[in-house]
Amino acid sequence: MAIQKTEKIWHNGKLIAWDDATIHVMAHVIHYGSSVFEGVRCYAPPSGPAIFRAPEHAQRLLDSAKVYRIDVDFTRDDIVKAMCDVVANNGVWPCYLRPVVLRGYGEAGVNPFNSPTEVYVVNYPWGKYLGSDAEQGCDVCVSSWTRLAPNTLPAMAKAGANYMNSQLIKMEAIVNGYAEGIALDTSGYVSEGSGENVFLVRNGVLQTAPLGNSVLPGITRDSVLQIARDLNIPVLEQMIPREMLYLADEAFFSGTAAEVTPIRSVDKITVGKGVTGPITRAIQKEFYAIVKGEKADRHRWLTPVPVRSKQPVSV
Ligand SMILES: Cc1ncc(COP(=O)(O)O)c(C=O)c1O
Repeated sequence: MAIQKTEKIWHNGKLIAWDDATIHVMAHVIHYGSSVFEGVRCYAPPSGPAIFRAPEHAQRLLDSAKVYRIDVDFTRDDIVKAMCDVVANNGVWPCYLRPVVLRGYGEAGVNPFNSPTEVYVVNYPWGKYLGSDAEQGCDVCVSSWTRLAPNTLPAMAKAGANYMNSQLIKMEAIVNGYAEGIALDTSGYVSEGSGENVFLVRNGVLQTAPLGNSVLPGITRDSVLQIARDLNIPVLEQMIPREMLYLADEAFFSGTAAEVTPIRSVDKITVGKGVTGPITRAIQKEFYAIVKGEKADRHRWLTPVPVRSKQPVSV
C-alpha cells in the first residue's frame, strides 16, 4: 500500500515539511542498517484520537537504542508528545505512527559513534495489514528462513537491520501464495511471523513463545496476554514445537499492523475447523472494543491526543 503523505514530520524536536524529511545517501543507516524504530497505531474512538500504548512503544524505542549504544536526546515522554504533536498537527487519524532513530551523515566506516543521531516521528493513514478479509483468517506457511540466532542480531531490539530477515520470510511467503510466513528459531521452535507474534490455542489453553525463542517483545502480544488473563483464559508462555501449529485448535497473529488476525491454515493444513475459534474471537472482540472506545480503557492503554475537532478526517 502506497504511503499517503501528511503535512508535517517531527524531526529532532521540530515539525518540518514532509518533503524535507530526507537523508543523505552516505548516512550511516543506509550502509549498515543502523536504525531502530516503532510502529504504533492511533485509533479513532468517539472521544477523539487515541494512541495505543504510546509510552510502551516510546520505551521500546529507547530500549532498542540502548542495546545499540545510540544516545537519544529525547525522553520517553518527549517521544509520546512528538507522536501526539504529529497527529494533532496533521489532523490525520486513525493512522499509523512511525518513530525512527537513525545514525545519520557523519563518517563512512562501520564505527557508528561519529555519525549523528536523527530522530523522526511520522504519521500517515493506514488500514488492515494482512488483507481486507484478515478477520476471516489468513493462510500462512512455515518459513524456510530461520529467525535471528541468539547473540547475533538482538531480537529484543526493533532494529531496521532485523527486517532483512523479515523481508526474506515475507517474500518467500508471498512468492508461494501465502499471506505470511512463520519463522522457527535456530532450534526449530516456533518464533514469530515476519512482523507479528504468534499465538495458538490447544485444549482451551492460549500459548505463545517466550522471548528466548528470538521473539520481539510485542506490545500487542503483551495486550493479548493481559486480555486473556482478564477473560480467565489460561495462558502458557512456553516453547512451541513446529507440529503444534498443525495440531492447534486455533491460531492467530498479534501485532500493531496485524492487530489480532486469525490464522486459517499453516502449510495448507487447516487450523482447527478452519474458522475463527471462540478464544480468538473473544480476544479479538475485547481488543477492538477497547481501541474503539466501546469498552472502558481499564488498563490505560490509550493516550488521548488533544485536538480541536473530534471528527476523524482520514481513514
Ligand atoms: C518481528 C515482529 N514481531 C512482533 C511484532 C509485534 O509487535 P507489536 O505488537 O509491538 O507491534 C512486530 C511488529 O512490530 C514485529 O515486527
